[in-house]
Amino acid sequence: MIPDGFSLLLSREKIDQRVRELAATLRQDLGDEPATFVGILDGALFFMTDLIRALHMNVFIDFLRISSYQGGMKSGDLRILSGLTWNIAGRQVVIVDDILDSGKTISFCERYLKDQGAAEVRCVLLLAKERARDCGIEDPYIGFAIPDRFVIGYGLDWDGRYRHLPEIYAKESE
Ligand code: IMP
Ligand code: MG
Repeated sequence: MIPDGFSLLLSREKIDQRVRELAATLRQDLGDEPATFVGILDGALFFMTDLIRALHMNVFIDFLRISSYQGGMKSGDLRILSGLTWNIAGRQVVIVDDILDSGKTISFCERYLKDQGAAEVRCVLLLAKERARDCGIEDPYIGFAIPDRFVIGYGLDWDGRYRHLPEIYAKESE
């Protein structure tokens, strides 16, 4: 069930098509160096699995779980609840997350992975809100630029719900 006040923003077809395009670009950019894909739980769950299957490359898979923050918190307040399994020292790493909003989460993860010795860190985000344009991340791979509206589905939740929706829905503006 789609909650009241939300309407379809991105269909399955659009998402699938864009995931394939992102995978093709990444495959080219990553070359033959082995890469470790680090998904940010829980939001990146479906995007990460679809992206990796579309890559047709042998990659290492790892995850980070970060404490979710309330508005007003600084990125320094974020904490790692569950860390990496693989040693990423000297490796090229690709961070995968669902959405870029303020950019605090992805900047925090990028910093953390560099501190762990990653040779190179790329960031892939399925969605980026308009307000995230100057988020401090260098040249992220973005699936879709979207309006500054709250979105759910395809991994994105509203208080832990609606992650399972296959498409992405946006809250209609009041
Ligand atoms: P940022 O740190 O402000 O860039 O926020 C990124 C994180 O906040 C994402 O990983 C999401 O988990 C969550 N988030 C931001 N915007 C939305 C939204 O519209 N719907 C659901 N989750 C969101
Ligand atoms: Mg998230």
